[in-house]
Amino acid sequence: MEKNAKIYIAGHRGMVGSAILRNLQSKGYENFVLRTSRELDLRSQQEVAEFFAAEKPDYVFLAAAKVGGIHANNTYRAEFLYDNLMIQNNIIHQSYVHKVKKLQFLGSSCIYPKMAPQPLKEEYLLTGPLEATNEPYAIAKIAGIKMCEAYRAQYGCHFISVMPTNLYGPHDNYDLNNSHVLPALLRKFHEAKVKQDESVEIWGTGSPKREFLHVDDLAEACVFLMENYDEAELVNVGTGEDISIKDLALLIKDIVGFEGALRFDASKPDGTPRKLMDVSKLHNYGWRHQIELREGIASVYQLYVKEAVV
Ligand SMILES: NC(=O)c1ccc[n+]([C@@H]2O[C@H](COP(=O)([O-])OP(=O)(O)OC[C@H]3O[C@@H](n4cnc5c(N)ncnc54)[C@H](OP(=O)(O)O)[C@@H]3O)[C@@H](O)[C@H]2O)c1
Repeated sequence: MEKNAKIYIAGHRGMVGSAILRNLQSKGYENFVLRTSRELDLRSQQEVAEFFAAEKPDYVFLAAAKVGGIHANNTYRAEFLYDNLMIQNNIIHQSYVHKVKKLQFLGSSCIYPKMAPQPLKEEYLLTGPLEATNEPYAIAKIAGIKMCEAYRAQYGCHFISVMPTNLYGPHDNYDLNNSHVLPALLRKFHEAKVKQDESVEIWGTGSPKREFLHVDDLAEACVFLMENYDEAELVNVGTGEDISIKDLALLIKDIVGFEGALRFDASKPDGTPRKLMDVSKLHNYGWRHQIELREGIASVYQLYVKEAVV
């Protein structure tokens, strides 16, 4: 990417888009085209076509999406399918029409089959049924991967797909109704410390294992791949390391400084026992994460405390 290239980051106010923007700015890029969802509804074919015709970006990071936790995914099934398909179809197609030099599509690890072997290799895509609760979201993301592949095959477009593992970092969602496990635990432990509660309740048995990547590391990987990767096959981005929910809770308890106990509510669902990305492809390209979990959570907690209401 040339330093003066015109770069469109779709979803630049989101957790991922804002991290990509910060990363590019830190590397000296300065020619950005950015729109909020109020200024440009990416579900509208006409608005997106007019936007691309007027701005003609050179590079596109597609980090705009309807995103949420398990509850939101399962409840707003139609919206997760419709919004995501519309957003990505409009952007990918207009990027082809207006000869974008390279586009990067961001997916998620939920594209892999529910019962796929662990760690998840890129080639496991479409080898089995998906997890039912987020099937609409995963179907939309798989369609996005296939759009990139098909536009590359038929029109020679340089469109790539990147699949991040679970993320955390600045601009995360701390709303307990639809947040992911790491920010939810951070908030619960912080509030329990402030209120001097005796214990914190954690859903499930604590035994499932999950992988977490700091969003600044993801952004570094996205920019690295934009510059160094140009193949049809998707690329996993993660740390390649996982941690049990119990150990994650103990780590966050320690970072927050909560002195009470952990109470596991085993009547609540555990979900998949393990979800870990195989990141050997990314490592073979010469990239690996820099921010370790303790350090990453500690920095996020500092930010959270600054902004917390309680
Ligand atoms: N968060 C994770 O743990 C995680 C993990 C793996 C993959 N990902 C992927 O990373 C991508 C970004 O996720 P995120 O966590 O950054 O999400 P986010 O914080 O919710 O941000 C999503 C962004 O999309 C924009 N957007 C949504 N609907 C739009 C519309 N109709 N028109 C225009 N813009 C719209 C929003 O723009 P406004 O702010 O202007 O409304 C928002 O900034 C997604 O593809 C997601 O699948 C995320």
